[in-house]
Amino acid sequence: MAAVHSIDAFVFTVPDLTEAERFYAAFGLVPRRVGTTLELYTEGHAQRWGVLHELPGARKKLQFLSFACHAADYAAIAARAHADGLVASEPHPLGSTDGLWLRHPEGYAVQVVVGPKNSPDAKAPAAAAVAPPPGRGAAPARSAVKPVRPRRLSHVLLFSGDVDRSAAFFEQALGLRVTDRSGDVIVFMRGIHGSDHHLVALAKSDGPGLHHVSWDVATLDDVGLGMEQMLQAGYLQGWGVGRHVLGSNYFYYVRDPWGSYCEYSFDIDFVPGRYDWPARDHPIEDSFYVWGPVVPPEFTQNHETAAR
Ligand SMILES: [Fe+2]
Repeated sequence: MAAVHSIDAFVFTVPDLTEAERFYAAFGLVPRRVGTTLELYTEGHAQRWGVLHELPGARKKLQFLSFACHAADYAAIAARAHADGLVASEPHPLGSTDGLWLRHPEGYAVQVVVGPKNSPDAKAPAAAAVAPPPGRGAAPARSAVKPVRPRRLSHVLLFSGDVDRSAAFFEQALGLRVTDRSGDVIVFMRGIHGSDHHLVALAKSDGPGLHHVSWDVATLDDVGLGMEQMLQAGYLQGWGVGRHVLGSNYFYYVRDPWGSYCEYSFDIDFVPGRYDWPARDHPIEDSFYVWGPVVPPEFTQNHETAAR
């Protein structure tokens, strides 16, 4: 089946780009002002992972998601979307006219373009741990730690007022597959050409919204150091460090200036291309985490629907 292989970019509006630039630079990304937008990159990687537009006075809002496919898959994806009546009448006003524009049943736009595969083709290797010589400790000195720099985007987690319907859209329109789920509370979906355990996760809420964007880091220490880096930068709210069950990654989530989150993620499960991962429906107690601090009550709040 023709299917997208990667997230090309997430696009959302924020009230203040200067505040956004400060946050993402502190997080360890490479923000670049381009025209009236802020583009988000990771160090040493060509992919433009995110584009933020300024909308003064408004709340943060997901505008659209763009997915990339191989050139050989594009025509079949487009033909299927046309046949299924999923094609939008016009491109999103903040997006390019490239590719194919679809309309998610909850109202936001989804673009499909031909683009390079930026999702992994193998389990992301952890940075090699170097054993210290006898007489020296293994921990880095606090006085000598280097800034944490995420390597790439891993996934996005979207709120949804109807998780089953939303998952059906991503399956039908984009060819994503369910990796694991917990009832209609959360569904994790991957790309079939080889990807992390999830490219997209859908969490039950009272409507759509962008809950978090997740960034791959090289070591478990980087998850903790990332937390420390954000605390030192004055971003005191978050959740973690902990470990997920579904996806298996170690995490720290830092609250962004708009009430959504950026995740430092290490060691997420990988699903090889064409591998038929047995999608299981897990007990609700396994849907969230194995261990970690008490979850702050505001962690699961959808700020994009709170304004409605
Ligand atoms: Fe995540």
